[in-house]
Amino acid sequence: MPNVPDITLRDGATIPQLGFGVWQVEDDVAETAVAQALSDGYRLIDTARIYGNEEGVGRAIAASDVAREDVYLTTKLWNKDQGRDKALRAFDASLERLGTDYVDLYLIHWPCPKDDLYVETWKALIEIRASGRAKSIGVSNFLPHHLQRIIDETGEIPVLNQIELHPYHQRADLRELHHQYDIATEAWSPLSSGHGLLDDEVVAAVAQEAGVTPAQAVLAWHLAIGNVVIPKSVTPERITENLAAVDVELTPDQIAAISGLERGAATGANPDEVYIDLWG
Ligand SMILES: NC(=O)c1ccc[n+]([C@@H]2O[C@H](COP(=O)([O-])OP(=O)(O)OC[C@H]3O[C@@H](n4cnc5c(N)ncnc54)[C@H](OP(=O)(O)O)[C@@H]3O)[C@@H](O)[C@H]2O)c1
Repeated sequence: MPNVPDITLRDGATIPQLGFGVWQVEDDVAETAVAQALSDGYRLIDTARIYGNEEGVGRAIAASDVAREDVYLTTKLWNKDQGRDKALRAFDASLERLGTDYVDLYLIHWPCPKDDLYVETWKALIEIRASGRAKSIGVSNFLPHHLQRIIDETGEIPVLNQIELHPYHQRADLRELHHQYDIATEAWSPLSSGHGLLDDEVVAAVAQEAGVTPAQAVLAWHLAIGNVVIPKSVTPERITENLAAVDVELTPDQIAAISGLERGAATGANPDEVYIDLWG
């Protein structure tokens, strides 16, 4: 079974550096995919309220041979649940659906700055963490000014920021700020979610030279630059293939070749433009 390295977070907890994401996966499909992922050796599962599959994820964890305390479980607070009281209720509802009495990491999914509730929501996550039911708390899709504001107004630094990050969009500014504050960088859409990266000729050349698949080359690049990475797949062979990337070691030249692919190409929304009612 592949040996996934751990990263130590600023609060002392550890997170596996490679995990399994389940965005755009139906509840019953998520159950099957997470069951395989756990059986293969994944120990980090990334879901969210809005994915509609917390129940399937919870069922897969409960049915697996892996003890709950050996699974690192992340879920996220949806935009409509921002604000203290809604956040507290949303967290309880997520635990209920997941069938567990704690999560390892709870994230604010998007800052939604136009609605200006994210500082209040962050304070609610601090309360939730104090209750012991979220071991660690963090954020997702926060830009430098959102991070700076919650830090300035609460004194509490998130352990992790989950952001879109792949070779076509490497987020140097955010990674630098994360480094300064000891915030872990977690990459969503690490394979660029079907936007051509896996067909890139540079990726293909590195993969061929390293004797691995394009997805493994990209995931090995993420691991080499220190990202936590959560590829999604519902294809059994790919689920196994992606985990095996932890055993791939790229040379400095191969890492540099993939780093040379930066083109500022975001596939997702600009966090400053996302507001609470945007996606229902
Ligand atoms: N916080 C946020 O706002 C946010 C936003 C987006 C995503 N996320 C998280 O990040 C996770 C990953 O991002 P993502 O799902 O957008 O994209 P991704 O992991 O970059 O790419 C997933 C796509 O790549 C395909 N794929 C996976 N492994 C492959 C392989 N070895 N070879 C070829 N193709 C492969 C998958 O196809 P098949 O499934 O058909 O195999 C799927 O179409 C999500 O599941 C979610 O947990 C978070």
